[in-house]
Amino acid sequence: MKKFKLVIEFCLVMVAIIFGCKTKRFETTKTSYTASASPQALERGKVLAYSICAGCHYNRSANKFIGMQILDVPGIAGKVYSANLTKSQSHGIPPHYSDAQLKYLLKTGVAKDGRFIPYMLRPNMAEEDLNAIIVYLRSDDPAIAAADTTVGITHYNLIGKGFMNMKAKPLPYKQNIQMPSENNPVALGRYLVDNIGCYHCHSKSLTSINYLDPEQTKGYLAGGLKLKGEPGMEVIASNITPDKQTGIGNYTQQQFLRALKDGQAPDRKLKPPMPIFQKLSDGEVNAIYAYLLTVPAKYHKIR
Ligand code: HEC
Ligand code: HEC
Repeated sequence: MKKFKLVIEFCLVMVAIIFGCKTKRFETTKTSYTASASPQALERGKVLAYSICAGCHYNRSANKFIGMQILDVPGIAGKVYSANLTKSQSHGIPPHYSDAQLKYLLKTGVAKDGRFIPYMLRPNMAEEDLNAIIVYLRSDDPAIAAADTTVGITHYNLIGKGFMNMKAKPLPYKQNIQMPSENNPVALGRYLVDNIGCYHCHSKSLTSINYLDPEQTKGYLAGGLKLKGEPGMEVIASNITPDKQTGIGNYTQQQFLRALKDGQAPDRKLKPPMPIFQKLSDGEVNAIYAYLLTVPAKYHKIR
């Protein structure tokens, strides 16, 4: 009898876990919005797609945005693959989204089907840049030409689902955010560090990112996070506060430019997952440098 009770209890707990772990769904947007295309928007969108989305969606051997496995999600939670962003009707995702739904996904994290996707939240992105990214995704650029292929299907196990449900908090939809002026390099640099997502990798943890107010993120830009660049290879993200001993306080503007655009630091070649930001303009990289010099220096030894 006692055994029987135990079995019943066990079943009830399992049912509770399974129901509790059913993926949460949220409302997507019903607004209408159509991106407005122009050669400038397309050019800007390409820079942003290569500087932001490429890190997780661009396959360097295919030279296309066909997606990849996200190695920094712990295996204990399941396997996560980013999406195919090409214009493939069968495998690409953007062709099945409206412009308004794409914008809503990037700002709030809520997908068209109501899932919360926590990997590419950009609540502070300016209208102009959101527009540019969507224009790029609709364009004829070869990197998003239809590729009928998939790299893998995301699968969260019970642990992963439970964790994702716990963390599923769509961000508020902030409207009418404007680009900072080019005449204010520090503000522009701050905007880029936020929207390119430098601080995601360069702060304390991928699970304690403050998307709405990046500067409040734990260990903001002080580095130390262990990341997987390539399978089996662990790289520790650098301290990029202006501390002279442990950060980038001794970098010249020219050295900083080379580190970002060529992946060449003064003392070594930088390893993935540090991206190479080839498409950013020198003005943008200099703005990032100007902003980083205003961040409080933090002594945090990485190497
Ligand atoms: C840090 C990694 C990362 C970055 C950066 C990133 N994504 Fe994603 N993206 C993902 C992952 C992972 C998924 C799939 C999540 C899943 O399957 O649950 C995804 C899914 C998507 C989807 C599919 C949504 C759906 O309904 O399935 C779209 C569209 C998308 N991303 C667009 C973008 C765009 C546009 C950018 C650049 C502005 C971007 N992503 C940047 C990781 C990223
Ligand atoms: C996907 C994660 C990721 C993103 C996004 C990222 N970095 Fe890095 N970064 C790293 C890692 C990891 C290293 C260390 C590489 C190594 O030691 O070989 C690094 C190294 C650096 C260095 C070299 C510092 C040193 O040790 O001398 C600089 C500078 C830097 N990053 C700046 C930036 C800036 C600015 C951005 C945004 C425009 C950025 N990073 C975005 C992961 C990232």
